[in-house]
Amino acid sequence: MSRSSSSNGAAFGPSPAAVFSTGASGPRCRRLAYAGPPRSNGWRLPGKVSIPECADCLKAVARASREDHPPDLPVEQRKQTEDKLNVLADYYGAWPNTILNGLKRFPTATPVHLWIIDLFAGRGWHESNTRPEARRPGTAAAAVFRLWQAVSRLDLPFPVYGHLVAVDADEEFEASLHAELDRFTHANLMVEVISKNCADVIEGLRRLSLGGYTLWLFDPYGLESIPFCLVRKVLGDKKTEVIVNLDAGNAQRVIDAAVRKAGTPDLRAVKSPTLDCLFGGDRWRDVPAEMTTTAKREAWLADRYAELFPASMLTQVLPMGSSSGFTRFFVQAATHPTARERFKKSYDYVQTLWKKPRQSVEDLARVLARDLAGQEVSPALVQSLGIFPGASLARIRNICQHTFNLGLSSHCGPDGTVALLPLDEQPKGPKGLFD
Ligand SMILES: C[S@@+](CC[C@H](N)C(=O)[O-])C[C@H]1O[C@@H](n2cnc3c(N)ncnc32)[C@H](O)[C@@H]1O
Repeated sequence: MSRSSSSNGAAFGPSPAAVFSTGASGPRCRRLAYAGPPRSNGWRLPGKVSIPECADCLKAVARASREDHPPDLPVEQRKQTEDKLNVLADYYGAWPNTILNGLKRFPTATPVHLWIIDLFAGRGWHESNTRPEARRPGTAAAAVFRLWQAVSRLDLPFPVYGHLVAVDADEEFEASLHAELDRFTHANLMVEVISKNCADVIEGLRRLSLGGYTLWLFDPYGLESIPFCLVRKVLGDKKTEVIVNLDAGNAQRVIDAAVRKAGTPDLRAVKSPTLDCLFGGDRWRDVPAEMTTTAKREAWLADRYAELFPASMLTQVLPMGSSSGFTRFFVQAATHPTARERFKKSYDYVQTLWKKPRQSVEDLARVLARDLAGQEVSPALVQSLGIFPGASLARIRNICQHTFNLGLSSHCGPDGTVALLPLDEQPKGPKGLFD
């Protein structure tokens, strides 16, 4: 069910290049001493719930299954999924460092534990038309890479431990999740794959992670999978942050169907156990009658959803556009304003950088040379690092090549691998993207 990664012998694990040079999975490791409920016969069994006070809602969670979901298209044809992965890849890069840089100002010998708990982790990758290996890392892989980077930092006066927990109810995904996540090894990095209904393990995971900084991702297929009673289970600690990928378009469609069935637009007369569970009450019924456009209704529902979080948490709601018109929203709840600002920054970055007028390749070459000055990097590594979210490998190869053309790298190999010059040896050019 789970494993924790072990040291590869070196104090700080392999270099990023070594990590990404192999697609092979690492060794299977020992199971985590997880004190959760006993293993059930399978997550699809209705009625097997571990949180008695919301048993009715959790029956729906137990019923949710991959078979109800249409087969996935390549990620390039799913704008919302691409945006989701790009935003999270960028934010996961910032999240550990924002916390660690803040703590660095108050040095202490106390170890810092960083947890990213991906409760709907998927198979670990998405099909891709443009990526090497024809796949793009999923949310859990993006998270483990960033935690691995964080525990590999050499500049901190306290020990840092990273914990990545990937939960997915579909047992068929266990092997591929391991293959994606086992690439990252470090003595201070614990990686676990749990093939269970998240409702059965959420309380145990909360107990295990208390005391650490914890980022919970709820990224389900359907609305049934995330009754608010489940989300509420992880709240209450000021080091807790939650990101929900909320399908408000689906919520609106559920309302439309319920209205049709009830034969009245009066939502008071309409029944929807799905929405009652999602909202932990019937707040969704208050959609103003004069609000007639779907987009406005979806935004209204997402805003009401964000209000369910305790007043001690700062929330924000950010829409993810879709070519089909159905809108999902990132709902983020955190206690620190920096978390909110930084998440918004990742969101804005992804919304604008690749959609608005494309930046010139020269500008991007300067960004690369500045961000990774003094390092030798291949295009595949640059892509995996998430420095240019959404950029194809061909475009990144072109950017790398331009670092050489602009005299910012001393060497460019046939595959586009470049040796970037240290900052003080780089020629000064026009202002870069982030100057
Ligand atoms: C949208 S996919 C997740 C995609 C993934 N986060 C990514 O983008 O890389 C939703 C996943 O949730 C899983 N799932 C559905 N119900 C679940 C439950 N109750 N507990 C845990 N996983 C569940 C499904 O098997 C599916 O893989």
